[in-house]
Amino acid sequence: MKITVVGGGFVGSTTAQRLAEKNLGDVVLHDIVEGMPQGKALDMMQSACLEGFDSLVTGTNDPADYKDSDIVVITSGLARQPGMSRDDLLVKNAEIVGGVAENVKKYAPGAIVIVVSNPLDVMTYLVGAKTGFPKNRVMGMAGVLDSARFRCFIAMELGVSHQDVDAMVLGGHGDDMVPLARYSTVSGISIETLISKERIDAMVTRTRNGGAEIVKLLQKGSAYYAPSAAVAQMVQSIVRDEKRILPVAAWCTGQYGITDQFVGVPVVLGKTGIEKIVELPLTDDELVALKASASHVEGSVTKLNL
Ligand code: 2OP
Repeated sequence: MKITVVGGGFVGSTTAQRLAEKNLGDVVLHDIVEGMPQGKALDMMQSACLEGFDSLVTGTNDPADYKDSDIVVITSGLARQPGMSRDDLLVKNAEIVGGVAENVKKYAPGAIVIVVSNPLDVMTYLVGAKTGFPKNRVMGMAGVLDSARFRCFIAMELGVSHQDVDAMVLGGHGDDMVPLARYSTVSGISIETLISKERIDAMVTRTRNGGAEIVKLLQKGSAYYAPSAAVAQMVQSIVRDEKRILPVAAWCTGQYGITDQFVGVPVVLGKTGIEKIVELPLTDDELVALKASASHVEGSVTKLNL
């Protein structure tokens, strides 16, 4: 497997490191800054004997090196600064990500593409449009991250193992994402029987603001440990054909009443990319919240003037 990570910033380089350490394939790290991806790649290679991986990591400034990639992860673009919403990045990142998408189309026409740049759902739409790839091969990483944040808060609240907590967050990767408490469990037990409604509501709010909380603490840039771990889980499910059910920004064709849009929904992720969108029964309130989130994304997509 050849996996290209575009963007050598914190998210991109940490993703490259996680992919290599999991032996998921050979990794190409691309960035426009001369020397930076090469230096980071060399540094990672020098950790191979210590971490025990055989993946080859190379750095490049040349998009021609995307050639024959099986998977391309796009992390390029600006990150949020304190006080900014993900939508504030739209115009600048559309320019950057649009250029990357054209290179992916040219040099890696058979690749599965995972978009990480923000605003996530809109950038995924842009990549889908610019590459023209079949929609099962284009997706955005956000639901896995948002669900991981919700899972973390649940585990911390109850003082139990993170491994026993499952949670599902749907919708766009924005302030109106939809954490589904009803489908969140600890060892199969619904959190609604373990935690008060008041505390669940507080965790839902904290999940929605999960990215902003970290931006505010860091003051410079945004999260990258959990985002890169979320990408690595998606890549692993594809490379090993695990067919995990994970929430990702996927092209909906009527599922949940959403049509011709990328939005966070549960999918089966395997070697061909998105193999199926899973339709969970939702209550009226959950469906209204999901559609509101989708229509927010749709509003931002129209600003792209594609
Ligand atoms: C986050 O939620 C950067 O959007 C990313 O942390």
